[in-house]
Amino acid sequence: MMDTQLLSPSEIDKAAAIIKSGGLVGIPTETVYGLGANGLDSEAVRNIFRAKGRPQDNPLILHIPDAAWLDAFCEDIPQDAWRLAKRFWPGPLTMILRRKPVVPDVVTAGLDTVGVRCPAHSMCRAIIMEAGVPVAAPSGNRSGRPSPTTVQHMLEDMDGRIDAILDGGDCQVGVESTIVDMTCVPPRMLRPGGVPLEELQVVLKEVVLDSAITQPLKEGEQPRAPGMKYRHYAPKAPVTVVWGDPLRSAQYILDHAGDSYWEGIICFDEFAHWFEDHPVERLGGSLDCFEHARRLFRALRAMDENGVKHIWAQCPGTAGMGLAVVNRLTKASGFHVIEV
Ligand code: TXA
Ligand code: MG
Repeated sequence: MMDTQLLSPSEIDKAAAIIKSGGLVGIPTETVYGLGANGLDSEAVRNIFRAKGRPQDNPLILHIPDAAWLDAFCEDIPQDAWRLAKRFWPGPLTMILRRKPVVPDVVTAGLDTVGVRCPAHSMCRAIIMEAGVPVAAPSGNRSGRPSPTTVQHMLEDMDGRIDAILDGGDCQVGVESTIVDMTCVPPRMLRPGGVPLEELQVVLKEVVLDSAITQPLKEGEQPRAPGMKYRHYAPKAPVTVVWGDPLRSAQYILDHAGDSYWEGIICFDEFAHWFEDHPVERLGGSLDCFEHARRLFRALRAMDENGVKHIWAQCPGTAGMGLAVVNRLTKASGFHVIEV
């Protein structure tokens, strides 16, 4: 067991020094906490996979402090990628681009492309600047757990497994970055996230949604983002997602959840008082999709802690940030969705 230091916000220099010397640091970003290492140090990056229990065929995102770093690690960068960077960086957008040979194979799992993102959390960019290297970081959860959105989540999953965790407060976006593959024409969204599809469509003429976003993979099908094949965001108890008008979905859950304490409910604020006999986690008001995103992973983790045997979840529509929330919830449920 390693001793994990909890670093205060003023200890960015310590976090950067650990990264530079090949160690692992839990780093705050605006989306979720990441598990960072020097992205040019193969051995350090291999340790990320060990700490997470992550399969080696699942590539990592390189985090950079400025779009000006792109040229050092990527080639054949299309004009649209520069336009996206200008509009959305720093921010919750990851672009898949052709990589240069300087990017180690272990980062990209041997692919000839690499995911790159410039995070909006100022402490995260400060660490990267200070370390002077791109930081390879997946989400900081143990493989299969919901992503960490608070420093407490990071400690739950990584205490004793990594060198340090930098406390950057609660994550403001709460779901991971939007991933867009810019190596194909038209560009393809591989994962919905903190930048809504509608905003991408303002900059790009056309964006294709990868089918893995809305449907389970068919048997033997290889997803374009290797991570999409794993059962992600999964709480311990099975999840049933109830999709449709909020009043109807709340009524459906009320009719079917019985009065058992072991049936947990994830619902919009307006309906929380309907479920007083149950463990309840609120997602925010039914129209506030930014709040749903911010609270979703916390709600799933809380359900693990109270030990419920089954989880019922109300689900927002797919507009704006809703698409990312619907994607995470339906994946957590193994696509067990009831339409009302
Ligand atoms: O918001 C985020 O993106 C967070 C924070 C820490 O930046 N990071 C994150 O990383 O969510 P991770 O590793 O949990 O998810 C990255 C996803 C995986 O599904 C992976 O398969 C995919 O991105 N990916 C990475 N590189 C890729 C590539 N070259 N081609 C296709 N998919 C890629
Ligand atoms: Mg992840």
